[in-house]
Amino acid sequence: MARLKTGVLISGRGSNMAALAEACADPGFPAEIVLVLSNEPGAAGLGRAQDFGIPTAVVDHRAFPERAAFDAALSDRLEAAGAEFVCLAGFMRLLAAGFVERWRDRLLNIHPSLLPAFRGLDTHERALAAGVLLHGCTVHFVRPDLDDGPIVMQAAVPVLPRDTADTLAARVLEQEHRIYPAALRLVAERAVRVEGERVIHRTGWRNDGSLANPPHP
Ligand code: GAR
Repeated sequence: MARLKTGVLISGRGSNMAALAEACADPGFPAEIVLVLSNEPGAAGLGRAQDFGIPTAVVDHRAFPERAAFDAALSDRLEAAGAEFVCLAGFMRLLAAGFVERWRDRLLNIHPSLLPAFRGLDTHERALAAGVLLHGCTVHFVRPDLDDGPIVMQAAVPVLPRDTADTLAARVLEQEHRIYPAALRLVAERAVRVEGERVIHRTGWRNDGSLANPPHP
């Protein structure tokens, strides 16, 4: 099967992008990254992508007074690079409904919480403040509402007594780097699909056991 041509959108350090790039460096992986695109010209992730030999581009949102024009420029760059699929990896701009619909069911995001808890920013601080005992991360298909959409995969971590937002974030990030490539693999292999706004595994189950805290490969 041809590898799924994937564009990755970043805004910052790009550690999730690097986790995806490492997975895609294996020629047997069912997806490949054709472009890493940042809205921030200074994003550290751009250099990391170049280290992997991946083409990079910048579409600076400040150059676009209208959000629709920014979104259209993103889509145009992605399509020009041959992208059939898009992964948001720490992309910190809200995308308008037009972009989301153009890439419907071809657009994944990773979010540092167990959605639908703690949508938005400062998830680790808010998890600590709420006193939850489990926290984690979620890979989901993107819908126009913030951090909303069919959930592909989640991983949970315990909140430990001495956790700060930083220690908790580091434990969650380790899981992000595991589940994002694993989720992209399932989507690229057509092992999961969206049905009625739920992700269904090809076994016909909502979750065959592999989508929550997936085992180490
Ligand atoms: C990650 O923790 C990602 O889950 C989060 O930003 C960080 C980016 O780090 N994304 C969001 O909060 C999106 N709502 P990275 O640039 O090292 O991948």
